Amino acid sequence: MEYRVLGKTGIEVSSVGLGCWPMAGMAGGANWSGIDDEESIATIQHAESLGINLLDTANGYGAGHSERIIGRALRDRRDRYVVATKVAPRSDDPEEPLQRYIAKNCEGSLERLRTDYIDIYQLHGEPDEAGMLAIVEALTRLVEAGKIRCFGISTYETEVMRALMALGDLSMVQIGYSIVNPVGQPGLNFAEAQNLGTLIRVPLAQGALTGKYFDSLSGLDPQDRRHERFDNPRIRSALQKLSELSFLAKGGKRTMAQAALRFVLDTPGVTSVIPGAKNRAQLEENAGADGVPPLTADERKQALAIGGKANWPLPPYTSWT
Ligand SMILES: NC(=O)c1ccc[n+]([C@@H]2O[C@H](COP(=O)([O-])OP(=O)(O)OC[C@H]3O[C@@H](n4cnc5c(N)ncnc54)[C@H](OP(=O)(O)O)[C@@H]3O)[C@@H](O)[C@H]2O)c1
Repeated sequence: MEYRVLGKTGIEVSSVGLGCWPMAGMAGGANWSGIDDEESIATIQHAESLGINLLDTANGYGAGHSERIIGRALRDRRDRYVVATKVAPRSDDPEEPLQRYIAKNCEGSLERLRTDYIDIYQLHGEPDEAGMLAIVEALTRLVEAGKIRCFGISTYETEVMRALMALGDLSMVQIGYSIVNPVGQPGLNFAEAQNLGTLIRVPLAQGALTGKYFDSLSGLDPQDRRHERFDNPRIRSALQKLSELSFLAKGGKRTMAQAALRFVLDTPGVTSVIPGAKNRAQLEENAGADGVPPLTADERKQALAIGGKANWPLPPYTSWT
């Protein structure tokens, strides 16, 4: 497994990480089907033997369930993992001072994760301009107190990244980017120029780029959060177009999922890709992206052309990529 340094932080992360949103399962409206908590714990623990040290979660995933699962899985092995979690950038209570809100939520994550420090603490979206300074001050205090090692933000907006950098030591950004989603490209360019670390979310387009839904959605549980999104004429036709990507897996040199992850890994500015995985088999396949042949320049060009023609729904029109 290749390890890369996260921007200026000195924190070494595996180039392939593990996105733990699916591990929220059906809890708190997360609605990821096919999740078994014991398998999730085994998957997180198996990551270490595959060289994966990076876990991404959020306090909001399954109302804390994903963090709780990580806390259980990392018992007696916390120091061998880099844990990234998130906090929403505003309180539900407009009267609550932002500094208190951030500090309180950090304590909640620490408790659920059963740890006394978080490696990477991310704002889960853009703060209001009026609240930016108070939030950055709160995050800086958490660094000084040793409760978090660094902080960052999940956003596509380079102006927001720039504004936060002007107020404090923003270390990293989480950005969506994949064969079907070029929206993250300006953010990646900015991050590379500023030496910000990057974690790349939704690299498999929520499973669409693994190939298993190209021809049929019969494998998708009707209870799953993606069923309603995928089961419509636009997405069905996009998936059909995406089936042309199968050439990337021809001859068995890489699977479709590995090709999609390799595409991201070889993009300038990318530190680590964080595909979600529901079990050890998916995790093993995703970890394998580290060792497969890179896409040639021609394969990359063709893949991007197919991805573009598929017309996958993208932000700002959807919030799920
Ligand atoms: N705003 C934010 O900050 C934000 C937003 C979204 C995501 N994220 C983070 O990014 C991570 C990744 O995004 P994501 O989990 O939404 O989507 P993703 O990584 O694009 O897709 C994950 C899904 O693809 C399927 N899959 C994964 N590996 C597979 C394999 N090898 N073979 C076949 N199927 C496979 C699984 O679902 P099925 O098997 O059911 O198809 C899995 O749940 C999240 O877990 C989360 O940590 C952050």
